[in-house]
Amino acid sequence: MTKQILILPGDGIGKEVTTSAVEVLDYLKASNDLDFNVLERDVGGTSYDLYGKPLTEETLEIAKNSDAVLFGAVGGPQWEHLGWDLRPEQALLGLRKSLGLFANLRPAFLFNELASASPLKNHIIENLDILIVRELTGGVYFGEPRGLVEDSDPKYAFNTMVYNEDEIRRIAKVAFEAAMSRNKKLCSVEKANVLEVSKFWRGIVTEMGPDYPEVELSHQLADNTAMQLVLNPNQYDVIVSSNLFGDILSDIAATLTGSIGMLPSASLNSSGQGMYEPCHGSAPDIAGQGIANPLAMISSLAMALEYSLGRKDLAVKIESAIKHFIQEGHRTKDISTSSDFIKTSEVAPILINFMKNE
Ligand code: IPM
Ligand code: MG
Repeated sequence: MTKQILILPGDGIGKEVTTSAVEVLDYLKASNDLDFNVLERDVGGTSYDLYGKPLTEETLEIAKNSDAVLFGAVGGPQWEHLGWDLRPEQALLGLRKSLGLFANLRPAFLFNELASASPLKNHIIENLDILIVRELTGGVYFGEPRGLVEDSDPKYAFNTMVYNEDEIRRIAKVAFEAAMSRNKKLCSVEKANVLEVSKFWRGIVTEMGPDYPEVELSHQLADNTAMQLVLNPNQYDVIVSSNLFGDILSDIAATLTGSIGMLPSASLNSSGQGMYEPCHGSAPDIAGQGIANPLAMISSLAMALEYSLGRKDLAVKIESAIKHFIQEGHRTKDISTSSDFIKTSEVAPILINFMKNE
């Protein structure tokens, strides 16, 4: 059956890195005779400039009908003055909510060859391989009521951090299952010492523990996790957390590797549909220079092949080409330790060459 893939390059370096991922995808399509229908649309600030909205109904409709969405990045200083609903980030939040992409998988791993790029000492960071499972369609990001009350003295603003038991169970299930396929350790992170919603979260996750007797389950307070991630990140295998804490912890985890330009992510719904995006943002400071690292976007394509397109074999192929690329010493600017580096456009051809000769 034909699989549909929607490419949303977005803004800034999003465009550059998706071009590289599409090159890899085109190669795989041609060499494996894949029945993939690939479409491309604008999103974020670029869509705002063209159509007055960060996400048009047409694009959202195509996204809903696609098996996988490859999302570059959105945002930039030229759109910061815009009102709330027109900001580029709303495209991301709108896609997550409308497609029901509740499970955000954010791996943080290190290629030991790149350990010196990490802000941590080599012996602490070496062999890092953790997975953060972040809840993505609930919690304080979407909780109601929310708002700003200006006709009061003092004025105030408020949001609601809310989770029902079903939302907690479904994200915890994803995390327990991920732990089963990895090193069988799961750490659930909240603020059960302060927040009712967190205490409730901890209770539900605890209840589920016995269903996964092989998984060593622990619970941690989010502030402690932030600290432990820096002190001893290798104590973790899978971390599961809410939308807000997961957002913060995944940035810490990604930064530990010293090369945020390497890390992919997947956001999945219950029918296997997914949106795939690099962890880095639109990086307006280097946009248009052709120096961005497209490996995170290309790894995100690998995740799409594995989770939404039924071709884990091709995901493995991409991942092994990336490993090869690093081992052979190819470096984009962000991961280069000398003044020598290759440009964005040189990356995909090198990877394709590895895949051809495998
Ligand atoms: C992320 C980003 C987004 C979030 C922003 C851009 C809305 O930080 O994907 O982690 O907070 O979820
Ligand atoms: Mg974030």
